[in-house]
Amino acid sequence: MGLFQKTKKSHVIQIALAFLTLALLSSTEVECGRDGYTKLLDFQAINCRKHSAVLTDFGGKGDGKTSNTKAFQSAISQLSQLAPDGGAQLIVPPGQWLTGSFNLTSHFTLYIHKEAVILASQDESEWPVISPLPSYGRGTDAPGARFISLIFGTNLTDVVITGGNGTIDGQGAYWWGKFKNKQLKNSRPYLIEIMFSQEVQISNLTLINAPTWNVHPVYSRDIIIQGLTILAPIDSPNTDGINPDSCSNIRIEDCYIVSGDDCIAVKSGWDEYGISFGVPTQHLIIRRLTCISPDSAVIALGSEMSGGIQDVRAEDITGISSQSGVRIKTAVGRGAYVKDIYVKGMKLYTMKYVFWMTGNYGSHPDNGFNPQAFPVIQNINYRDITAQNVSMPADLEGIQDHPFTGICISNASINLSANPKKVLWNCSNIAGVSSKVSPQPCNLLPNKEPMSCGFPPDTLPIDNVMLKNCSGSGTNI
Ligand SMILES: *[C@@H]1O[C@H](CO)[C@@H](O)[C@H](O)[C@H]1NC(C)=O
Ligand SMILES: *[C@@H]1O[C@H](CO)[C@@H](O)[C@H](O)[C@H]1NC(C)=O
Ligand SMILES: *[C@@H]1O[C@H](CO)[C@@H](O)[C@H](O)[C@H]1NC(C)=O
Ligand SMILES: *[C@@H]1O[C@H](CO)[C@@H](O)[C@H](O)[C@H]1NC(C)=O
Ligand SMILES: *[C@@H]1O[C@H](CO)[C@@H](O)[C@H](O)[C@H]1NC(C)=O
Ligand SMILES: *[C@@H]1O[C@H](CO)[C@@H](O)[C@H](O)[C@H]1NC(C)=O
Ligand SMILES: *[C@@H]1O[C@H](CO)[C@@H](O)[C@H](O)[C@H]1NC(C)=O
Ligand SMILES: *[C@@H]1O[C@H](CO)[C@@H](O)[C@H](O)[C@H]1NC(C)=O
Ligand SMILES: *[C@@H]1O[C@H](CO)[C@@H](O)[C@H](O)[C@H]1NC(C)=O
Repeated sequence: MGLFQKTKKSHVIQIALAFLTLALLSSTEVECGRDGYTKLLDFQAINCRKHSAVLTDFGGKGDGKTSNTKAFQSAISQLSQLAPDGGAQLIVPPGQWLTGSFNLTSHFTLYIHKEAVILASQDESEWPVISPLPSYGRGTDAPGARFISLIFGTNLTDVVITGGNGTIDGQGAYWWGKFKNKQLKNSRPYLIEIMFSQEVQISNLTLINAPTWNVHPVYSRDIIIQGLTILAPIDSPNTDGINPDSCSNIRIEDCYIVSGDDCIAVKSGWDEYGISFGVPTQHLIIRRLTCISPDSAVIALGSEMSGGIQDVRAEDITGISSQSGVRIKTAVGRGAYVKDIYVKGMKLYTMKYVFWMTGNYGSHPDNGFNPQAFPVIQNINYRDITAQNVSMPADLEGIQDHPFTGICISNASINLSANPKKVLWNCSNIAGVSSKVSPQPCNLLPNKEPMSCGFPPDTLPIDNVMLKNCSGSGTNI
């Protein structure tokens, strides 16, 4: 069987130039379909690839027991050489593929077949340890370094992780146990982390049982995240769904997330480390998200926001049995800002809070934070909201002498649970307005004439990115 599935002989010649020895193996079967399935893979991506390969070509074994770490690493390292010649895609075929961490490359697509499951190894020697993120100064579980993510990429351009809803299983129970028993010397690995990169797509996958955060794009831009199903036990620690962190121009859509922590947590670094790194998360679209997160937020902004968070547009959000809707979390020492936040169209069922802002979140990386670094929270807009079975409509706590301002809530209809809190709107150190909100808001959000809170009418550049129709055979369409 050939190394690369080709439909044109000219491609074989190009491959042969790239890999003289390996290409010798591919002198037959170049014209016909590979095992039946690669022909059937149609998907959409920011870019299609000229070359295509299958994990089994690199010694992969889908028996759920054999480690495929070397197969993944050697496949991607060889395919990286095709980047200047139209790029390559690696297909993970049906099977159970146990693996430790591996790194992605540029102009590359990882395609996980719908009957394929990537199983994260529970053997720590399969997880190299890397430095903490510069904007955090330390790991989030432990002061020192961190285990590298299962699927990791840094300094990349044009990388796609997709599939026909194929599965990545983090087998997180091992890590959750170590975390709960305080046995971690390094912070737990994420499932997917893409760092210092641009033109990133992560789509049509099911991610289950992550050791901690599921998807972490950081210091990156031009990112499309689409069609992810993310599932983790609701009592698993810190299994955040998607955490855009110091990233620009991002579109997250059509995701379904059930997790033990925030479904989406927008971040940008921690206290003095985040302030000095100074890279915001901005121009972020979140739409058609469904979230179940009994102990956390549907969307959290912070608590780590020390590079700033600006221009977030959330639309068509459904929250079920969750602690809060779109929550702002910050603290003295964080500095920076959360501003120009727009939320339109939110349906909530069984919630502790609809609106929640916390100015005293605390939680510092060390004692080196600046007690004069006051975060600025400003121009926060919520409109067109329905909520049922709510314990407390709002708990809005700003910072003494540094109030959260420009809060606007309009057209919100909230039905209370059978035993709601006595105080329905608990507001301090905030300023803003409301219109057509029931039950009646606190007096720090005085009622205005009928009006709608803002939502930007313009289109962000990431919304103009059209996906191309690609196929598993490796030829452009
Ligand atoms: C994801 O899957 C859906 C449904 O199968 C399909 O409509 C959509 O085009 C796919 N998206 C991508 C980016 O492949
Ligand atoms: C993956 O990238 C990280 C960071 O650059 C590096 O430390 C690690 O050794 C790489 N892993 C492999 C298998 O090359
Ligand atoms: C990746 O890019 C960052 C930021 O530009 C740079 O500091 C770092 O050295 C680069 N890493 C590699 C492995 O090239
Ligand atoms: C993807 O798989 C998950 C888990 O089996 C399932 O809940 C979800 O409906 C699937 N999504 C699509 C678009 O098929
Ligand atoms: C309302 O919320 C409570 C928890 O606060 C839950 O036990 C109950 O089942 C919910 N009722 C409905 C009708 O969803
Ligand atoms: C109020 O919000 C609902 C959705 O909750 C929407 O259908 C309706 O059009 C909104 N009304 C106005 C005046 O915008
Ligand atoms: C609130 O309850 C009333 C009365 O049961 C119902 O008519 C209305 O649709 C409910 N509103 C929401 C947002 O669920
Ligand atoms: C209301 O806010 C104050 C801070 O201003 C806080 O101490 C208190 O716990 C809050 N009460 C509720 C019921 O959330
Ligand atoms: C992709 O294919 C679909 C359906 O076959 C078609 O509607 C769409 O226009 C195509 N997209 C592009 C960018 O060619």
